Amino acid sequence: MSDSNFTTSDSGIPVPSDEHSLTVGPDGPILLHDAYLIEKMAQFNRERVPERQPHAKGGGAFGIFEVTDDVSAYTCADVFQPGAKTEMLARFSSVAGERGSPDTWRDPRGFALKFYTTAGNFDMVGNNTPVFFMRDPMKFQDFIRSQKRRADNNLRDNDMQWDFWTLSPESAHQVAWLLGDRGIPRSWRHMNGYSSHTYLWYNAGGERFWVKYHFKSDQGVDFLTQEEGDHFASADADHYVRDLWEHIKSGEFPSWTLHMQIMPFDEAKTYRFNPFDLTKVWPHGDYPLIKVGRMTLNRNPADYHTEIEQAAFEPSNAVRGTGPSPDKMLLGRWFSYPDAHRHRIGSNYTLLPVNSPHAAPVHSYTKDGAMRYTNVTDPVYVPNSKGGPHADEKASGPVMGWHTDGEMVRTAYTLRPDDSDFGQAHTLVREVLDDAARDRLVSNVVGHLLNGVTEPVLVRAFDYWRNIDTEVGDRIEQGVRAARS
Ligand code: NDP
Ligand code: HEM
Repeated sequence: MSDSNFTTSDSGIPVPSDEHSLTVGPDGPILLHDAYLIEKMAQFNRERVPERQPHAKGGGAFGIFEVTDDVSAYTCADVFQPGAKTEMLARFSSVAGERGSPDTWRDPRGFALKFYTTAGNFDMVGNNTPVFFMRDPMKFQDFIRSQKRRADNNLRDNDMQWDFWTLSPESAHQVAWLLGDRGIPRSWRHMNGYSSHTYLWYNAGGERFWVKYHFKSDQGVDFLTQEEGDHFASADADHYVRDLWEHIKSGEFPSWTLHMQIMPFDEAKTYRFNPFDLTKVWPHGDYPLIKVGRMTLNRNPADYHTEIEQAAFEPSNAVRGTGPSPDKMLLGRWFSYPDAHRHRIGSNYTLLPVNSPHAAPVHSYTKDGAMRYTNVTDPVYVPNSKGGPHADEKASGPVMGWHTDGEMVRTAYTLRPDDSDFGQAHTLVREVLDDAARDRLVSNVVGHLLNGVTEPVLVRAFDYWRNIDTEVGDRIEQGVRAARS
């Protein structure tokens, strides 16, 4: 029996040296049969999994979600029943930067949650913004490429970003939000998380509702100015990761209160704009927030790689009582995430402890594949008469809760009276922002446009902003022209 403090190889064999390779004499060549040296070098070469395509830079922590209010009239999901307490994981991230990129670059922030519920894992993969840049998944890949790096010089390029945005007017609401104060949060603790999408809930009686999730920061929403963000980008590129880690380590646990907006199922058919359009919020005046419970992050990861880097979130992890809506973006995401995980982590990514359901058993017929370590038992097929698991016909509930029929088409959503690309962006800029916040917005946009944006994109950018708000657009043009003259 070896001393438990001896270094061993990965096969458990004690190794003779932590410092010296096996050589022919002290000054001679290294020998190939130094299996431990080879193992060290080979394992090192394989330490990284591919970074996430978007949302590569992030951090996270574990916690608990506690239901404080009764929403059982709207959903039968175990995780939202009165008094339920559910273990959970949160990962926060930026979208465009690489794994080592500065936390405080202006960007939307990911707000990904995994709840280990008794009915299986439930994931809410949202952002810190209530809307998004487009409403059709066909445009997502182009959008992300326009935010990342050029093909020729591998540089990020504001011209490319504004080229895409100004040719995609549906981006206006999200861009107005991004260039405002909330585009650089003070920390991850100081931002809200939104599902952005509309989802389905249904109650024990099968009654259906359309819902949006709002996780509101109990620390309050706060931001960094562009100058403060620029400072941290060089002074402490991992500012958000550090902030979250330090606060949890010192026992100052951040929390968020979950509120829902809830729309009766049939109201969606006649609402004044398409309630499944991801570029729009539901005004609070129409659908007020309904409190559900609180999530508190109270445990840092023990190993960043196994618990955060290899964490795999997927909107399609929808438990009983929840489901998708006809939001085209959401339906695109339903496919995309598990596919990304199979590539990034491996086909058996759900076997990793961070991704496997803690509170619910797994009886699937998935079998074999690289790195499967749990035994598969017979029968390996269904239907069978050998006592294997069989589907529960009652499990799905009214998952796809809407009726649809028509020709196969490639077209935009049917327009409704209040559908407009610029209306809610205008409300944000003119009615939600105060004068000082509007001044900072103008200054942020001018600074962004001055950084490499050229004609004709520049002229389109001025028009884009004038479509949002005439005065703000004029001020942006004046600011850019004055700086260039
Ligand atoms: P409300 O006046 O009820 O809501 C305005 C909301 O704007 C606030 O509740 C707050 O959301 C959010 N907000 C405050 N300051 C900023 C800021 N600097 N940048 C971005 N958002 C901010 O009006 P409506 O519900 O009718 O919405 C009006 C506009 O507010 C929308 O067009 C949208 O741009 C924005 N908004 C609306 C949200 C919604 O779900 N209805 C959510 C967030 C923004 P919060 O309380 O979530 O922090
Ligand atoms: C990450 C695709 C829209 C939030 C990712 C990843 C992919 C992806 C492939 C990387 C996953 C991984 O490797 O682990 C898409 C597609 C979209 C879309 C195809 C639209 C059609 C959105 C929207 C939101 C969002 C609208 C927010 C409402 C996130 C978050 C992450 C992420 C938070 C990081 C998850 C984590 O922390 O691991 N997305 N995305 N995405 N996406 Fe999306």
